[in-house]
Amino acid sequence: MKKTAMRMKLFLPAVLACCLLLAYVGLSPADSGYAGDDKCKECHEGVVGSFRSNIHAKAAFYGAKNAGCESCHGPAAAHAEAGDTAKIRNPAKLAAEASSAACLSCHGKDKGRMFWKGSVHDSQELSCTGCHKVHDNKRKLLAKADEKEICLSCHGEVRASMLKRSKHPLRDSSSPSGEGKMTCSSCHNPHGARGEKLVDAKSFNDKCYECHAEKKAPVLWEHSPVKEDCLTCHTPHGSSNDKMLVAKVPRLCQECHMQGRHQTGTLATNSVFAFNRSCLNCHPMIHGSNNPSGPVLQR
Ligand code: HEC
Ligand code: HEC
Ligand code: HEC
Ligand code: HEC
Ligand code: HEC
Ligand code: HEC
Ligand code: HEC
Ligand code: HEC
Ligand code: HEC
Ligand code: HEC
Repeated sequence: MKKTAMRMKLFLPAVLACCLLLAYVGLSPADSGYAGDDKCKECHEGVVGSFRSNIHAKAAFYGAKNAGCESCHGPAAAHAEAGDTAKIRNPAKLAAEASSAACLSCHGKDKGRMFWKGSVHDSQELSCTGCHKVHDNKRKLLAKADEKEICLSCHGEVRASMLKRSKHPLRDSSSPSGEGKMTCSSCHNPHGARGEKLVDAKSFNDKCYECHAEKKAPVLWEHSPVKEDCLTCHTPHGSSNDKMLVAKVPRLCQECHMQGRHQTGTLATNSVFAFNRSCLNCHPMIHGSNNPSGPVLQR
């Protein structure tokens, strides 16, 4: 009994190996419709040459199988016979879903692309080639060197915010690529995200805390709207009010504080409650305070 089991153990792998060998032979270029990269070079010398510095030329190094030209362009033996463009897959000319599928066959499991399926951009029929140009060899294979210019070509209204008086430093061009200290993907994952509005964090506040950690620190006297949602008072991209506020102080404060004492209503412009920094003259610790004397957000 033991002996038969032993034999089976040796026999099975042998059968498997034979199957694999047959399968491999079956998949050899000639029969499978694959032509191999050397073939492409005969007619696309330039493309093949510049592709050497593309990260996909090293894809095999990262563990991707069959990572040549045909990993994106599909079996191309028929096309390679005479260059018939009807017989080759060009992701830029396919419908969105089929186009992205070519990329997702390798990138579908990347952490950053986990939420692509059903994301806003996916459901709006954007494909990977809407933002990436694989052959141009730019940073992250993006269609433009300056990432935000890609986004702004469709989201023009955000450019208007970026030009306002108070804004995030999205426009600083501290590097030749035009990338500033921040860019759109500092907050958004264009491939889809857990949070709303493609914001790449559990909540808007968690995203803000990544860079404004001091606003997360526990304080003795909290100002409750702060821990709830920074965007109650701030815009994310830019505003014509100071400090990216959604409205000017005191009006901002009065949207919630109309208790009927000094907070209220029609304040004369020379009133201590309205001039200069207005409410902030006396309540500067607007995000919360540790002042032992009380909860009114003073020093
Ligand atoms: C016999 C010559 C020849 C060979 C071999 C060849 N091609 Fe082409 N290919 C052409 C011609 C001609 C065109 C059309 C003009 C152009 O875009 O350069 C073309 C176009 C293409 C296009 C663009 C199609 C479109 O509709 O936009 C892709 C993609 C392509 N080839 C990929 C490949 C790949 C991958 C290989 C190797 C497996 C390959 N070609 C081998 C001649 C060839
Ligand atoms: C990672 C996927 C990918 C690989 C690998 C790849 N291509 Fe492409 N190729 C594309 C995409 C996507 C386009 C459409 C244009 C674009 O977005 O850059 C394209 C376009 C083309 C074109 C049309 C001309 C043009 O620039 O629009 C040719 C020709 C071509 N590829 C040939 C090749 C050859 C030859 C190889 C192998 C050396 C190769 N491709 C490898 C994705 C790929
Ligand atoms: C055969 C598998 C394979 C296919 C198909 C494929 N990729 Fe990739 N790609 C890789 C590997 C491997 C890397 C390098 C490791 C990584 O970043 O995941 C990579 C890297 C990238 C990068 C990062 C570049 C950088 O500079 O960091 C981008 C962007 C990218 N691929 C886009 C695409 C797009 C768009 C398509 C479809 C047109 C595509 N890939 C198709 C395997 C593939
Ligand atoms: C709306 C624009 C947009 C679309 C559509 C898009 N990407 Fe990207 N992708 C970007 C930007 C911007 C970056 C650079 C992010 C950064 O610098 O961190 C990027 C980076 C990447 C990277 C580099 C790895 C990384 O996380 O840094 C890969 C791989 C990638 N994209 C694959 C894809 C694939 C696959 C698709 C299609 C399913 C796709 N992208 C669709 C904008 C896009
Ligand atoms: C080809 C056009 C196009 C490009 C390029 C593009 N988007 Fe979009 N984006 C859309 C469309 C269409 C929608 C859905 C309609 C809308 O809200 O405007 C959308 C929606 C969004 C949303 C709102 C999500 C929601 O849940 O409402 C954000 C955020 C966004 N895009 C960010 C970006 C970023 C960041 C980039 C650049 C990396 C980018 N987009 C590039 C077309 C584009
Ligand atoms: C500091 C983080 C941050 C940066 C940087 C950023 N965004 Fe946003 N963006 C947000 C937040 C948060 C929202 C959600 C706003 C809301 O729902 O009120 C948003 C919303 C959006 C929307 C949806 C607008 C709407 O009203 O539904 C678009 C489109 C968008 N952003 C595009 C961009 C583009 C393009 C860039 C780069 C030029 C960019 N964002 C940079 C945080 C940011
Ligand atoms: C990727 C880092 C980053 C993220 C994420 C981020 N910020 Fe900022 N924020 C900055 C930088 C950098 C400045 C400019 C600081 C400076 O100039 O001293 C800034 C400035 C500000 C300012 C002051 C603007 C002014 O006119 O002085 C406000 C308000 C602000 N951020 C709110 C937010 C809010 C709300 C969020 C979440 C939606 C957020 N930030 C997310 C980096 C970030
Ligand atoms: C109740 C309204 C309100 C909420 C909610 C709020 N802020 Fe503010 N924030 C302000 C006001 C008012 C100022 C201007 C303070 C000043 O000029 O002294 C300001 C200023 C700022 C500044 C620039 C000056 C500084 O203190 O660094 C940053 C950064 C900032 N807020 C980030 C945040 C973040 C992050 C959140 C969410 C955790 C948030 N704010 C929530 C009202 C608010
Ligand atoms: C979105 C609504 C909202 C906005 C906007 C807002 N607050 Fe508040 N504020 C609250 C809430 C809620 C409390 C805590 C409940 C309470 O005691 O009234 C509070 C508490 C306070 C307190 C402490 C009161 C106490 O007795 O503990 C002060 C002071 C204060 N806010 C000042 C301001 C100022 C100044 C502004 C404008 C820069 C402002 N608030 C904007 C909702 C708001
Ligand atoms: C000249 C200084 C000063 C200015 C300006 C000021 N406050 Fe006050 N505020 C105080 C002091 C002191 C207290 C606590 C003593 C009290 O109860 O009056 C207080 C208390 C509060 C409270 C707690 C509830 C209450 O009525 O006791 C709120 C809310 C508040 N202020 C909001 C505002 C708003 C909104 C503005 C701007 C329209 C503003 N304050 C302007 C000094 C000021």
